[in-house]
Amino acid sequence: MRSRVLIALGSAVLALSMTACGGEGAGGGGDTAGEDPADLSIGVSMPTQTSERWIADGTSVKEKLEAKGYQVDLQYAGDDIPTQSQQIDQMITQGADVLIVAAIDGTALSGQLQAAASANIPVISYDRLIRDSPNVDFYVSFDNYKVGVAQAEALLVGLGLRNADGSKGAANGPFNVELFAGSLDDNNAHFFFDGAMDTLEPFLDDGTLLVKSGQTDIEQVAILRWQQETAQRRMEDLLTSSYNDGSQVDGVLSPYDGLSRGIITALQNAGYGRSGADMAVVTGQDAEVASVKLINDGVQHSTVFKDTRLLAEQAVLAAEAFLEDTEPQANDTTTYENGVKVVPSYLLPVQTVYKEDIQTALIDSGYLTAEEVASGQAEG
Ligand code: GAL
Repeated sequence: MRSRVLIALGSAVLALSMTACGGEGAGGGGDTAGEDPADLSIGVSMPTQTSERWIADGTSVKEKLEAKGYQVDLQYAGDDIPTQSQQIDQMITQGADVLIVAAIDGTALSGQLQAAASANIPVISYDRLIRDSPNVDFYVSFDNYKVGVAQAEALLVGLGLRNADGSKGAANGPFNVELFAGSLDDNNAHFFFDGAMDTLEPFLDDGTLLVKSGQTDIEQVAILRWQQETAQRRMEDLLTSSYNDGSQVDGVLSPYDGLSRGIITALQNAGYGRSGADMAVVTGQDAEVASVKLINDGVQHSTVFKDTRLLAEQAVLAAEAFLEDTEPQANDTTTYENGVKVVPSYLLPVQTVYKEDIQTALIDSGYLTAEEVASGQAEG
């Protein structure tokens, strides 16, 4: 039943897009080589505007595509899966020539991708891999396993178990740590957690690191939709349930700055970092401006910087390649199996940022201004 509905939807979409383009290349994908960019349109579907990074991603992709003369339909889905599905359906019926999609739930878009394939529209999966569909044509992202390794290494550095150059640090532990992961429906969350746990495992095994809550499985530590408030509540619960005996949390593995801010609020409300008390070592990711300020102020320990300008550039290059009826250049053709096929990928490197790196990595590179770092607010 479901597949028949999808086939019907696919044909309807195809019929509509053919009408929209009047049989010419423009609209509906396929055969677009040599077209005037002004006649080509790219649908860009982003998950949410509650996180700065996705605003930066959306803006960068749109600006770069428009600079090349393409039409761009940029939509944010408010972290609501049906909204994202509808927005993509609409992009298809309106005759998009390429889709760039950062999925909310990586497993929820098979129907939309089938419709896109039926209309010959290439799909580029942006930062988060779309799973369980043969119709993902390319993937642009960062080395997500290395993000997890970098987060775990930053935690070890913060606790003094390692030096930044990887050598053994002055501290011996044992230390109490708690672990957080991202949204289970986001493929990246698993890569981050795997990279982190592979790095922390020897320290957990020999007792240098203790997880007093006992929660070490990704299912136990995941935060649905990467919500800051949910992370804050989980940290509050952990403090109440596992640290009400006078013991301290020394470090928290956090995979994303939004979660880190929730975790930090919970810790601060419990007295950490207040009146001379120590703050736990809290990691992060994305170099969001509010967190970079916290790092600058000595509250958050670190973040992992992923330059969304470079990611946007790769997405634009991939879109252009498809519009010229060629294949985008991949630098990884083995890692990202989406449940149906290995998706050719372009993966970018990542960089850990501690307080002393803010100037060179973020300000000198023009990613953030000194004023933004000082205020913790993005400029318009
Ligand atoms: C992930 C992404 C991270 C972070 C997180 C929450 O998919 O790779 O960088 O942004 O989503 O938005």
